[in-house]
Amino acid sequence: MASTWNLDLLEEIGRHLGDEAKARGANVLLAPTVCMHRSPLGGRNFESYSEDPYLTGKLAASYIRGLQSKGIAATIKHFVGNEQETQRQGYNAVIAERPLREIYLRPFEIAVREASPWALMSAYNLVNGIHADEYEHTLKDILRGEWGWDGTVISDWTGTYATAPSIRAGADIEMPGPSKWRKMEQIQDCLDKGEITREDIEKCAARVLHLVERTKGLGNMTPEPPERSNNNAETSNLILQTAIEGLTLLKNEHKVLPLRGVKKIALIGPNVKRAIAGGGGSAGLKPYYTTTPWEGVRSRFEGELVFAQGCDSSKWMPLATPYVTAPDGQPGVRLEYYHGDKFEGEPAVVQHKAGTDLWLWDSAPKEVLPAFSFKVKAILTPTSTGNHTFSFASVGPGRLFINGELFIDIWDWTEEGEAMFSASEDVLKSIHLEEGKPVELLVESTSEVRPASKVAVLGRQYDYGGCRIGYQEEDKVDRLKEAVDAAKSADAAVLVVGLDAEWESEGYDRQTMDLPKNGSQDRLIEAVLAANPRTVVVNQSGTPVSMPWVDRAPAILQAWYQGQEAGNALADVLFGNQSPSGKLPATFPKRLEDNPAYHNWPGENLKTVYGEGIYIGYRHYERARIAPLFPFGHGLTYTTFEYGTPTLSNTVLTESQGIEITVPVTNTGSVAAPEIVQAYVSDVKSTLPRPEKELQAFGKVMLKPGETKSVTLKLDKYSVGYFNTSLNQTGSWIAEAGDFEVLIGASSADIRCKVSFEVKESFQWIF
Ligand SMILES: *[C@@H]1O[C@H](CO)[C@@H](O)[C@H](O)[C@H]1NC(C)=O
Ligand SMILES: *[C@@H]1O[C@H](CO)[C@@H](O)[C@H](O)[C@H]1NC(C)=O
Ligand SMILES: *[C@@H]1O[C@H](CO)[C@@H](O)[C@H](O)[C@H]1NC(C)=O
Ligand SMILES: *[C@@H]1O[C@H](CO)[C@@H](O)[C@H](O)[C@H]1NC(C)=O
Ligand SMILES: *[C@@H]1O[C@H](CO)[C@@H](O)[C@H](O)[C@H]1NC(C)=O
Repeated sequence: MASTWNLDLLEEIGRHLGDEAKARGANVLLAPTVCMHRSPLGGRNFESYSEDPYLTGKLAASYIRGLQSKGIAATIKHFVGNEQETQRQGYNAVIAERPLREIYLRPFEIAVREASPWALMSAYNLVNGIHADEYEHTLKDILRGEWGWDGTVISDWTGTYATAPSIRAGADIEMPGPSKWRKMEQIQDCLDKGEITREDIEKCAARVLHLVERTKGLGNMTPEPPERSNNNAETSNLILQTAIEGLTLLKNEHKVLPLRGVKKIALIGPNVKRAIAGGGGSAGLKPYYTTTPWEGVRSRFEGELVFAQGCDSSKWMPLATPYVTAPDGQPGVRLEYYHGDKFEGEPAVVQHKAGTDLWLWDSAPKEVLPAFSFKVKAILTPTSTGNHTFSFASVGPGRLFINGELFIDIWDWTEEGEAMFSASEDVLKSIHLEEGKPVELLVESTSEVRPASKVAVLGRQYDYGGCRIGYQEEDKVDRLKEAVDAAKSADAAVLVVGLDAEWESEGYDRQTMDLPKNGSQDRLIEAVLAANPRTVVVNQSGTPVSMPWVDRAPAILQAWYQGQEAGNALADVLFGNQSPSGKLPATFPKRLEDNPAYHNWPGENLKTVYGEGIYIGYRHYERARIAPLFPFGHGLTYTTFEYGTPTLSNTVLTESQGIEITVPVTNTGSVAAPEIVQAYVSDVKSTLPRPEKELQAFGKVMLKPGETKSVTLKLDKYSVGYFNTSLNQTGSWIAEAGDFEVLIGASSADIRCKVSFEVKESFQWIF
């Protein structure tokens, strides 16, 4: 969505999400995420927009306007400083006031001013030593004080850490229920001790009621409606169009793309026949349907297609899902819940689940909470004979049985892994199985807290349960050779590589910027590039990856995570049915070591100092003169554009009067495509150091071949301000008298023209 830079589209998406939320029986959507891409390794970067606060804020405001026009509340998050997943419930983000204002709070500020989100989610982490849900400086003084915001604050899930301080700061709702910190006796106790007042409680309560009223009306307290499906052609088309506009063409030498006049294509790579719809964690969901690159290309190409997987890139053992059926024969598994942690009596609740990724976070039935035990029953049928491998991880104590025999026992596990939140390490074990001969799987597990040492820390003995069963059959094929042979046999090769919901997810950060795993995808790319010069590399990932082969690859398409239409969108662009037009919302550095947070990531002893200050993303690369692999705002199309001479409505900017810049843009190529025109403001002389330039306006315009249209870029006081902190206790925004330059271009590094304006007298403001 961010790489489309299309505000109208984001608003339209918001409206569709409103309808979708209604279909799911929900009134409040827990989005958008506007945290910054501080490091390329951020586990949740795929879920948030950009390294630039202005782009992020504008996109978020459009999304929120669309969503709330349908009566569904947006919950902008995570407020504030949740730029990493490592130790996210414990780390202290140390952020100086100026970067806090200019970078990390700015997207929230823009969204509050332009779209007034009805809800906001506090972050897990601490900010400057105080839990985000207790931080009065941001919640009380800035958000509700300076900005005058009237919405409801919701904690992140289990992101409330005490009773009085979060109520005092105005964190209105502790999530999820049942409450841990706001039981009646705890509240009464705080009242008795004078730690909170009746007024504090009434304010929170009033804001909860305000949210109810805004979303459904107080007079309409109907029971939660059942979920229904809302799969429709109009939304599919919108998703397809968004995916096409988001595809970002990083490189296209010798016009390798679009693929024309080819009779045979080799589709190679671990992601060709996998649907990579999104990243992992709470932003993940099961789409109504998915399209793989293979299916998309197949549906749009008459010629011959060959496939080679090339390598295996899965982070964990793939799920056993495709191989299992429940005892009743349906695909999936049977899940039996028992009261208490001893599997006693008959199952209290029986559920059918579609797969073997069984994380019960908030889906365990209420009637068995908190102490429950569960069994997973399934039949697995191998599709080949060999030494096959199972993996097993569980949140609580767990055991996996095969044909009644104990196979993997992690009842008393101690080492936490990453395969699921709060779960054990994935334990792998191999077994000889025969093709077509079914085996019986049984898991026994409970909701007891593991490792046992965590009981004292959490202050409770039972938590959310769950488990994950992986399965992979022995592989006897030389995948690299298969890929090289396929590439040699075809007119063109399309490599689809990248990350997936396991590599990029809520809950943890990436460890390296390299394509997984252990160089296998890089080796595959090098081998295929050598075998066929007409090779397109398609990269599916939410964040930058290192590209040691960048000079040898003639065409590189950054494909992000594109939901259910991913395969179709890719094929439309490969064959030139539409031009790609996305632009990078984050810099792709050459090396991980070049990134601004490198020295302060992910912190030490639970402290992460945002030492780069305001120099995040391109602000850093430009100031430090470090050439990136691909710069912020970069993206090619199948045509070319010429920028004409810009005109200004006036050349003096004041507190009340902005400036409009009009730039004529001409499509000088032979294909219709949109251009995204970017305006960066540069403060020629200022008292405090400032970035070389900062994005302050952009516009997107669709142009037919030969057509010229004007793009209007609007600047106002917010386009020139910086935050002066030492003025007084709180500080203020200031526009300093002097000259400003506007650099207008097709990317942060491809500036096509410049104009100047002036601020005659300095002025200050708060909001
Ligand atoms: C089966 O595979 C595992 C893991 O690859 C290996 O450790 C084990 O030695 C193999 N066993 C046999 C009988 O080949
Ligand atoms: C990683 O790749 C290297 C180079 O091919 C290989 O020697 C090494 O065994 C691999 N390591 C693992 C853990 O697979
Ligand atoms: C692929 O995408 C990932 C994540 O966005 C990025 O880190 C990597 O540099 C990209 N690789 C290529 C070859 O585009
Ligand atoms: C910023 O604040 C300092 C300290 O209060 C003050 O001396 C300085 O004049 C301010 N800067 C500007 C440009 O107003
Ligand atoms: C700080 O300066 C701003 C801008 O001049 C002003 O509005 C605000 O009242 C001042 N705050 C304090 C505490 O003096």
